[in-house]
Amino acid sequence: MDRLVIKGNRKLSGEVVISGAKNAAVAVIPAAIMAQDVCVIDNLPYIEDVKCLYTTLNKMGAESVYEDKHTLKIDSSNVSETKVTFDEVRKMRASYYLLGALLGRFKKAQVAMPGGCNFGTRPIDLHLKGFRALGANVEICGDVVCVSAEKLHGAGIYMDTVSVGATINIMLAATMAEGVTTIENAAKEPHIVDVANFLNMMGAKIKGAGTDVIKIIGVDRLHGAEYTIIPDQIEAGTYMIAAAITGGKVKVSNIIPKHMDSLSAKLMEIGVGIEEGDDYIIVDAENKNFCATSIRTMAYPGFPTDLQPQMTTLLSVCDGTSMVTENVWEKRYQYIDELKRLGAKITVEGRVAIIEGVKELSGASVEATDLRAGAAMIIAALKARGETVIGEVKYIDRGYEEVEKKFSSLGADIKRINVEPEV
Ligand code: EPZ
Repeated sequence: MDRLVIKGNRKLSGEVVISGAKNAAVAVIPAAIMAQDVCVIDNLPYIEDVKCLYTTLNKMGAESVYEDKHTLKIDSSNVSETKVTFDEVRKMRASYYLLGALLGRFKKAQVAMPGGCNFGTRPIDLHLKGFRALGANVEICGDVVCVSAEKLHGAGIYMDTVSVGATINIMLAATMAEGVTTIENAAKEPHIVDVANFLNMMGAKIKGAGTDVIKIIGVDRLHGAEYTIIPDQIEAGTYMIAAAITGGKVKVSNIIPKHMDSLSAKLMEIGVGIEEGDDYIIVDAENKNFCATSIRTMAYPGFPTDLQPQMTTLLSVCDGTSMVTENVWEKRYQYIDELKRLGAKITVEGRVAIIEGVKELSGASVEATDLRAGAAMIIAALKARGETVIGEVKYIDRGYEEVEKKFSSLGADIKRINVEPEV
């Protein structure tokens, strides 16, 4: 098992180049199997979740090859397997996109219930409600979701809750339904726009992605396409917050600054300098004291829940008392016990974390409890005096490409060690 060893209290400086968006990649790759053709997808992040989907698609009969670390060529002409219950599928949440993609192309699918980060119940009822509205039969057979339809027809679907996954999954299936589908109260995250753009490059007819009403005119067939994934707003935000907490000055490159607006606004509010370019942001935190603020996570364009652990960590060393309200996930505070081992003073009451800023953090042994919690542990360790050892790095590797290499290039003292599991 890998661990990260970090000697903290060093300023970060220099430039970091952000990889492609994990949450776009894990939807675009399943979408590629909807065409009986070849797709080439570029700017993919070289992370475990993408490798997991690559393996899954090949087990389904696709012929996928890595043209380079960031480019997958996927020939889905011979995909025939619509029962997808491999171990890889159970490891990640996004495997549920295979339901929408297979239902669209083959009008049937059996996919194992998704895995993924554990922060409370993660229902898929809205996905299934959408599939039923399009005319599919839906059954849960043990831990496998079974969907099938003689044919799919357009429908008007109102989302009870704003859901990224359900919005994308319904969009996938509706792309090949007969007639017009509208998704109202749709999620508006950048990765939803990315998936819609990719589908349209394949011949789909989707309008309104990025707004709360998406209109899809069904088509009979899709063809192959070449596509470049957007930059990862959450990876970018993670490095922006890391620069801030260390009092450094870092250029975060290959991003879409507009996607970072909610974080940039909050960082400026606490006293961090932010300079925006066309495809970069310079975070300047040198010789600055930061003041407390409050954060409420919500769907895009609000403050992203996937940056909540990282921002809470920064607020733990800001002067004054901050408040964070986690409105998306019911239990996304498991990491706070680990943060308290490093000296943070935080109390959690339901969805609210009350953070009393401390002057410094001290190194300790901690564990990543999930992907973004792991990112928060790195951020805390970069600030902490002394050495911090972070366990369960496998979670971090699911969503961050070459994490120790990127942080080392910014001046962090960070090493990956491999520890054999205790027998
Ligand atoms: C996506 O998860 C992301 N994962 C998550 O990022 C992210 O936290 C989340 O969107 C919110 O932005 C991927 O894209 C692979 P949702 P998803 O459906 O689609 C409720 C990361 O760190 N809901 O938008 O699963 C749900 O309980 C990961 O990269 C239902 O009630 O999230 C939650 O309260 C962690 N029924 C809210 O909606 C449903 O059928 C938002 O969930 C679906 C969701």
